[in-house]
Amino acid sequence: MQFIDLKHQYSIIKPHIDLAIKKVLNHGQYIQGPEVFELEAELAAYTGRKHCISCASGTDALLMSLLAQGIGQGDAVFTTPFTFIATAEVIQLLGARPIFVDIVEDTFNIDPSKLEFAIDDCQSNAELIPKAIIPVDIFGLPANYEMIEKIGNKFALCIIEDAAQSFGGKIKNKKACSFGDIGTTSFFPAKPLGGYGDGGAIFTNDSEIAGKLISIRNHGQGKSKYNNIRIGLNGRLDTIQAAILLEKLKIFPEELSQRIAIAKKYSQNLNQYFTCQHVPEGYESAWAQFSILALNSRERSICIKKLKDSGIPAAIYYPKPLHLQDAFSDLNYSTGDFPVSESISQRIFSLPMHPYLTNDSINRICDILLSCKEIVQ
Ligand SMILES: Cc1ncc(COP(=O)(O)O)c(C=O)c1O
Repeated sequence: MQFIDLKHQYSIIKPHIDLAIKKVLNHGQYIQGPEVFELEAELAAYTGRKHCISCASGTDALLMSLLAQGIGQGDAVFTTPFTFIATAEVIQLLGARPIFVDIVEDTFNIDPSKLEFAIDDCQSNAELIPKAIIPVDIFGLPANYEMIEKIGNKFALCIIEDAAQSFGGKIKNKKACSFGDIGTTSFFPAKPLGGYGDGGAIFTNDSEIAGKLISIRNHGQGKSKYNNIRIGLNGRLDTIQAAILLEKLKIFPEELSQRIAIAKKYSQNLNQYFTCQHVPEGYESAWAQFSILALNSRERSICIKKLKDSGIPAAIYYPKPLHLQDAFSDLNYSTGDFPVSESISQRIFSLPMHPYLTNDSINRICDILLSCKEIVQ
């Protein structure tokens, strides 16, 4: 059994993907070819944002967004420690300071009440200026933007939604990538809308920011190729990836419905025995991962081993919260600083999740997990 079955997906859309790649090979515009701009228009329409700026990865999407906001030395950026390293790495890379804020126990997303407290606290630090918040839509579930946007407005902070995992998720009728000032996503192959290589995109309604982002992704280009008006990078999405993503976008709504149906089946079978990620009323997850909590790390190890022995892969996202990673040791955090993230990191694990998972496979996975409960009790 596959954790994410991209081979199966390719076998279904092979003729379309092969043709799309061939078209690029024929026209030869490998860099910023027409498919890139076609994809940007379709993604903007899908998310309901005015502008979409494609880029080379979800990491570049975050980095470019911070650059466009002029964030650097002496600036504080608030985010969650329960995420992939890229979210906080880019803050540190620009010389700004990540300030971690613990998560909510049931959604695993940043806790708005703790966020407000952390911003208040930072205001008394003469060496740091609060500048931005990067909430993460963990495992595909949008963070609590109703409250986060109020806090952003209260403190005049820019909000950058890290929607790397949540393309397709929504709150009521508002889609992921459309919250805050800027939304960023990733097309890493394992993501809900994954390419067949690296890729990413940035979404905003602000035309001035969009203009800056277009310049930043191309070495800070001004009006012409060798006129550079700011420091940027090579953050362009390949035309071949754009062509592939255009094809994958066509099947995305169907794939998303299948993910939602699979998550529902998992929850129905498991939620009496394990804690599943809570999806608040009005929210919809894109189910990048289906993650559950064991009672403790021992029970988790038993479950993962039993699954593995039956040929079923499971993964741990994330075994160590970012404040305890060596890469952030200079921030002087220690164990106990973010108890919810720390406890969840000890207990969480993710099950196979992709649109082509069969009912039989889901039932098999759930039966094995329930048999582990009997071992532990
Ligand atoms: C929450 C989060 N942010 C950012 C990224 C970075 O995306 P990419 O791998 O496309 O650079 C990822 C990728 O796994 C992610 O999960």
